[in-house]
Order: sequence, then C-alpha cells, then structure tokens
Amino acid sequence: MARKKIIAGNWKMNMTPSQALELIDTLKPLVANDDVDVVFCVPAIDIIPAVEAVKDTNIAIGAENMYFEEKGAYTGEISPDMLTDAGAKYVIIGHSERREYFAETDETVNKKVLKAFEHGITPIICCGESLTQRKQGIYVDWIRMQIKIAFQNVTADQAKSAVIAYEPIWAIGTGETATADQAEEVCAAIRACIKEVYDEATAEAIRIQYGGSMNAGNAAELLAKPDIDGGLVGGAALKPDFGKIVNYNK
Ligand code: 13P
Repeated sequence: MARKKIIAGNWKMNMTPSQALELIDTLKPLVANDDVDVVFCVPAIDIIPAVEAVKDTNIAIGAENMYFEEKGAYTGEISPDMLTDAGAKYVIIGHSERREYFAETDETVNKKVLKAFEHGITPIICCGESLTQRKQGIYVDWIRMQIKIAFQNVTADQAKSAVIAYEPIWAIGTGETATADQAEEVCAAIRACIKEVYDEATAEAIRIQYGGSMNAGNAAELLAKPDIDGGLVGGAALKPDFGKIVNYNK
C-alpha cells in the first residue's frame, strides 16, 4: 500500500496564542487535501487554542518538544500526559535546534521517542548532518547512527507508525534546499537502515519527511521522489504558501 504523504509545519518560536488563531483561520481553507496528513506543530502555549480551532478539519496539532519523565520537579518542561490531554497527536523530537541550543543528545531523543509511543503520541524524529559532515562525506554514516540510537528498544509495530524527518542542518532557514536527488539519497539510506534494524514491512510503512527550506516552488519535485513521504516545513509553514505545499499534487 502506498504511504500517505504527511506534511507538517514546524512553527518554532513563532505565533502568540492570538496570532496562532489568526494563522489557523487563514490556513484552514488552504490546506484541505485528503491525499495528505496535515499537521501543525505549534508552541506549547498555542496547543489548546489550536486544537479547538482545527476541530472538524483535516488538520492535526502537534507539539515541538516534550520531556521524557511522567511528572515532577522538572521546571519548565511539558509532560506526555499534558500533550495528550491538550489534544496533541504528534510531537517533534530531536530537532537540530534543540540539539544545538538545548543540549539534546541521541540518548535523550531515544528516551523521548519511547515515551511518546508509550502515550500514543506519534513522534516526528529528526536527524540530519552539518555542512562539515556533508563535505567530509560522512553524512550517511552519521544519520544511520542517529537513527539506530533513536530507535533503540522501539518495537517494529511502533516504528511502523513513526515519522522520521531528514533535515540537513545546512538547509534549515538558509534558503538553500537540498536538491531532490540529495534528499532522496539520504531518505533512501534511512529506509534501508530501518530495514536492517527491523524488516522490509517496517521499512515500507515508516514515513520519511524532508525538511530544510521547503517551499511552494520546490515541494512537488521533492515529494515526487520515491522515499520522500512528506515535509517538515519551517518558514513557509507560517504563510499561505503552506497551502500550496500541501496541495503540491493539484
Ligand atoms: P525552514 O523550512 O525554515 O528551513 O525550517 C526547516 C525546519 O527546521 C523544520 O523543522
């Protein structure tokens, strides 16, 4: 069975709750496309109003981060129960910005992924190489390591429902998109790695997104590649252009 495309916006640290409602109002009619799962990953404080605002639409709401403990003395963190109770269905785990600015590691990513599954939240697991790693030619090895650690102790059934986002760091927010061939090379390598760790059925089921300066102009070419099952979109997710990305096939 063909994998359904999944296009998610990562709003990052943008949009106050009232701005979020305005943006959702603008985007709602633009992102209707039954061929695609549409997700808005929004700041934690926006989740509750956003869930209310997308009722009776095809849009699901996700979080941008989550802690791996159930509850307790972790000032400032958001627990999995808080997300599910608020109505979040997805959570981005291990975005390169969290790794760079908030000291997240492959090990914390793995703990968060396991927690998300335990609570029935679909993780969008991020991986990707730096420009130096790309130039050194070690990017596939690096990403295989990130994936293998992220999926430690994750069952095949869980892995089947996971989403992986391949986001080359050099393409994030830079306007420099990976070419469709560059993105496909790594997404295919990720799928091969999942096949090695699990089996063919898991590799065929798991969805792999590309992220990094995806926009209305380049989405169709990227999404035409056999191993690219969607996008994780930053800047362009805050604009009406996001509707064009979601409707890349129309
Ligand atoms: P941009 O689309 O702004 O490059 O951001 C990509 C990203 O980091 C999505 O998570």
